[in-house]
Amino acid sequence: MFEALTDAKPDAILALMASFREDTRDNKLDLGVGIYKDEKGGTPVMRSIKAAEKALHESQNTKAYVSPTGDALFREAMVKQVFGDAGPTDRIACVQAVGGSGALRIVGDLLRKASPAATVHISDPSWPNHVPLLGATGLALGTYPYFDSASGSVDIEGMLGYLNALPKGDIVVLHGCCHNPTGADLTEEQWLKVADVVEARGLFPLVDLAYQGFGDGLDEDAAAVRMLAARVPEMAVAASCSKNFGIYRERVGAAMLLAPDAAQAARALANISSVVRANYSMPPDHGANATRMIFADEKLYADWRVELEAMRLRMLTLRQSFADHMRKRSNSDRFDAIAEQKGMFSRLPLSSAEITSLRVDHAVYLVGDGRINVAGLPDDPERMAELCDAIATVMNAS
Ligand code: LMR
Repeated sequence: MFEALTDAKPDAILALMASFREDTRDNKLDLGVGIYKDEKGGTPVMRSIKAAEKALHESQNTKAYVSPTGDALFREAMVKQVFGDAGPTDRIACVQAVGGSGALRIVGDLLRKASPAATVHISDPSWPNHVPLLGATGLALGTYPYFDSASGSVDIEGMLGYLNALPKGDIVVLHGCCHNPTGADLTEEQWLKVADVVEARGLFPLVDLAYQGFGDGLDEDAAAVRMLAARVPEMAVAASCSKNFGIYRERVGAAMLLAPDAAQAARALANISSVVRANYSMPPDHGANATRMIFADEKLYADWRVELEAMRLRMLTLRQSFADHMRKRSNSDRFDAIAEQKGMFSRLPLSSAEITSLRVDHAVYLVGDGRINVAGLPDDPERMAELCDAIATVMNAS
């Protein structure tokens, strides 16, 4: 059986994680995988999650199955968090999912079932797993221009031009906030232009919302989703709790489907439940249950908001510090945009030889396309200066 298999290409981010683990140098620096790191370089369990887990441990008296759709209160709270208090809840179907990736996959499978001839369009560049994940649904893939590396901002004309030529019913994957890997987000004005095209051409937006709360704030980061929801008859959102609740390994997310009316939302829910049942039957409970307890408890919720805001603000400070250091070290404004970009990632304007040299000669790990995890940047000014020296050194050498 297995002799028929050809070698599988390793995922760029997972391969980088593995080589970082194997590196024995004391001064190694991980700017690779997207997990939040604190000033000590660790990813501790958040206070609010610890407290919720403790309460859960004491109160839980069964581990019986949940259901393919997951916990009802968790889903309700997630819909509110994403679509806001005034969201069109009667038109929204939501199921708990196995992380944001699981949400993307079940939405993708459902869309393939609903519209097998549609093409799903992904930004260039995008999270490296978008292509294999959505490609595995059987939907055809396309890529739309997104990033202008010279300015470090969105190539809005290129993007709009591409979207304007798409046939009705095609699916467009949009990063709701904190674009991965560039950190270049659409401005409010640009979102409105994208919404105009999506509406005029009858495209289906699939919003990947993996970093809500890491950009401009919890509600601010959902503004684009809410604006789209007020304008389009149908859309989907794949939301993740991995980053904003720091529960990466618990695999908690939500797949949300906005339908034209309540009857179609109910049908969409029944269909996505079948997709779940045929795939992994039911979602895991622990992380979603802890998250639900935070949503349900005023004090825990307030504490979680404080923790989330501290992470967001720390990443902003690191962005500014890195851009300032790089301006001095490189004697150029090439890195200035990093201070303006949003969320956990930015893409350094480096060649692949420079990125390799950073890893091999300086023990600095970043993804092969130049993506850095901003939260992995050192707070310590000396370490930051060392990092920026290393970057300037590899740039000067080439
Ligand atoms: C990332 O982009 O680094 C994260 O979303 C983790 C992953 O699964 O790739």
